[in-house]
Amino acid sequence: MKNKAGVIKELRKAIEFYSELGFEYLPLKREDIPGLISKKTSITGRGTAYANQNRAGDEDNYVPDKKDALKNLRKDIGDCHRCKLSENRKNIVFGEGNPDTELMFIGEGPGRDEDIQARPFVGDAGKLLAKMILKMGFRREEVYIANIVKCRPPYNRDPEQDEITTCRPYVEKQVEIIDPRVIISLGRIAAQSLLRSKIPISKLRGSFHDFQNIPVMPTFHPAYLLRNPKGKWLTWDDMQKVLEKLKGG
Ligand code: URA
Repeated sequence: MKNKAGVIKELRKAIEFYSELGFEYLPLKREDIPGLISKKTSITGRGTAYANQNRAGDEDNYVPDKKDALKNLRKDIGDCHRCKLSENRKNIVFGEGNPDTELMFIGEGPGRDEDIQARPFVGDAGKLLAKMILKMGFRREEVYIANIVKCRPPYNRDPEQDEITTCRPYVEKQVEIIDPRVIISLGRIAAQSLLRSKIPISKLRGSFHDFQNIPVMPTFHPAYLLRNPKGKWLTWDDMQKVLEKLKGG
């Protein structure tokens, strides 16, 4: 049982979190606020088909490490013209982060800022995502962030099915290489395409689904949350479930 000072400290952190996310009030019926803040310092590990690193001089048993495997995948994509998104994009946005992470985020596709900077989630939605990652107890660089399609759809329209299908092998391979313990998919398009489902995001979110034998927690897209701040409560519930899963729950 925590002492009063400990409870107050946790409450303060929780309130700061909600205020940073733009909440203006607290729903008083929630009873588990002290459980909201989870401190995790390391989320690396998990041995896979790809080595986390190779021992020096072990050339005979060389297994590409995850970083090299991702580099090779990026090389395979090359200056991609496999679909019509290549006609208007400035840059391919491959994805970035810690290849050895246990937690991977998958969004829909690059927007304007991402197209310019060749980095995922660097615009306003990305800033909110970074805050949420931080409040989960991680730094952005500790997780891996990718998208379903790697090129910006013109005028930020939804990616079309042929574009999603063409890009799918690359996100599949990214997941295979990184082999995270949990994936959080962001928004309707990411969830429905990963899970090959037509179920609305409001029904998919909140429980785990399967992608390549990895649990996927679909949640709302941060851009949606910027427009509909009330959805942040449900998103935070989804993140709590992910944290539980990462803790072994
Ligand atoms: N929205 C996405 O789905 N992905 C990004 O990289 C940026 C915005």
